[in-house]
Amino acid sequence: MRDTAVIIMVAGKGKRMKSNLPKVLHNLAGKPILNYVLDTVDQLEVKRKILIIGYKSDKIRELIGDKIEYVEQKEQLGTAHAVLQTEKLLSGFKGDVLILSGDVPFLTVKTLKKLLKYHQANNFCCTLVSTVLKNPKGYGRIIRDKKGEIKGIIEEADLSTDKKKITEINSGIYCFNKEKLFQALEKVTTDNKQGEYYLTDTVKILLREGLTVGNIIVKDYSEILGINNRLDLTDASQKVYQKTLQDLMLQGVTIVDPNSTFIERGVKIGQDTIIYPFTIIEKGTKIGSNCFIGPYSHLIDADIGKGIRVWASIIESSTVKEGANIGPYAHLRPETVVGKGAKIGNFVELKKTVIGEGSKASHLTYLGDATIGKKVNIGAGTITCNYDGEKKHKTVIEDGVFIGSNNSLVAPVKLGKDSYTGAGSTITEDVPAGNLAIARSRQTNISGWRKKKKEDKS
Ligand code: UD1
Ligand code: CA
Repeated sequence: MRDTAVIIMVAGKGKRMKSNLPKVLHNLAGKPILNYVLDTVDQLEVKRKILIIGYKSDKIRELIGDKIEYVEQKEQLGTAHAVLQTEKLLSGFKGDVLILSGDVPFLTVKTLKKLLKYHQANNFCCTLVSTVLKNPKGYGRIIRDKKGEIKGIIEEADLSTDKKKITEINSGIYCFNKEKLFQALEKVTTDNKQGEYYLTDTVKILLREGLTVGNIIVKDYSEILGINNRLDLTDASQKVYQKTLQDLMLQGVTIVDPNSTFIERGVKIGQDTIIYPFTIIEKGTKIGSNCFIGPYSHLIDADIGKGIRVWASIIESSTVKEGANIGPYAHLRPETVVGKGAKIGNFVELKKTVIGEGSKASHLTYLGDATIGKKVNIGAGTITCNYDGEKKHKTVIEDGVFIGSNNSLVAPVKLGKDSYTGAGSTITEDVPAGNLAIARSRQTNISGWRKKKKEDKS
């Protein structure tokens, strides 16, 4: 095998997206479009990886980091001009150059390997990947002679009406002999409708010089669909979501309504778990077996054990252990751990809080920066006052504590094992184990008050 260098072009703005964000950074079912291409390339054995950046290049560098070489294309004068920017960087390189676009996310490693193998086995100067599309609009068309030999590529903008019918399109994926590529690039002009330097023109330039151009045809055209506008983006996202749901169903997960369920790739779900409608599950969430998730739930980077019910709730970067019950309308914010069999009910918000095994916060409660033991009962309307305007403070509630309804726990504060608090208390001091704390003013009943009021008025 000869050495291979991969070049990925992403310098364009992606005008058709009508966006301030570079096209390849738009989110496609959970990750930026560009990451699909990079993840695929990572599975190939290549000597060099180069990203051609231009529009908002700092944003791309920030996301991708230093695992790739960068070349700046200061002005986006076309795909040939883009590739030409790598000439210096590749001056010492000998071998083949694989050229990809950052906006073709579903390209497979299999196709790339096939392309490289075919290209090298036949010693072509250029091998391109084409496919046949029912609706080829927008793509460059492959022009062939009567014998079926490739003669060149014509871009949509430059097509004569009769050639618009050609359905074989250029995928924008090519393999070139490096020397021949750069020789041809020098000869590309802007003599076309868009006034751009087209990489596609290198094909006719090589052929004119009697050099060989080969091609492979991809049968599954969906693999090489480019994302050019937001319609393409949504279509592509739906494809990814559908495939993920199908895989999960075949692994033994019930998805009640695939049309209203969005699960990102990489999410793991155990057997016999049921996902109810209007549920979104993201960012590497793990869910055990025999759970009921949804309807109306949103799980982001969550770790959910076995046999758990999550009903109409939001869980972010939190862990929920076996048999716990969450919701409806609970919000678990990051760094929360809900212990085995615990219950977090209606309108309860937890932040950076550990709830022990079998404990309950069933209604209308905020617990932040709190450590709560086992078998604790948190009354309705309990609030940890964890923030003094400058710093966050901790609340510790030990095993077996019973917090009455409508309590304010002013942190830092500790409630000892098996202690009780009276309803309506504002707890500002530690409560020793086993004590009852009542921190509210005593009720006074004023006898005959109403009658007296009436008499005063008359
Ligand atoms: C390109 C091909 C077309 C093919 C299609 C497949 C050319 C001239 N046309 O058209 O034959 O059918 O892809 O998807 O190559 N880019 C730069 N610098 C530039 C211009 C573009 O880096 O100056 C990058 C873009 O960011 C993008 C890629 O090159 O990632 C392709 O550019 P795009 O404008 O999308 O080309 P298409 O019109 O789709
Ligand atoms: Ca494109």
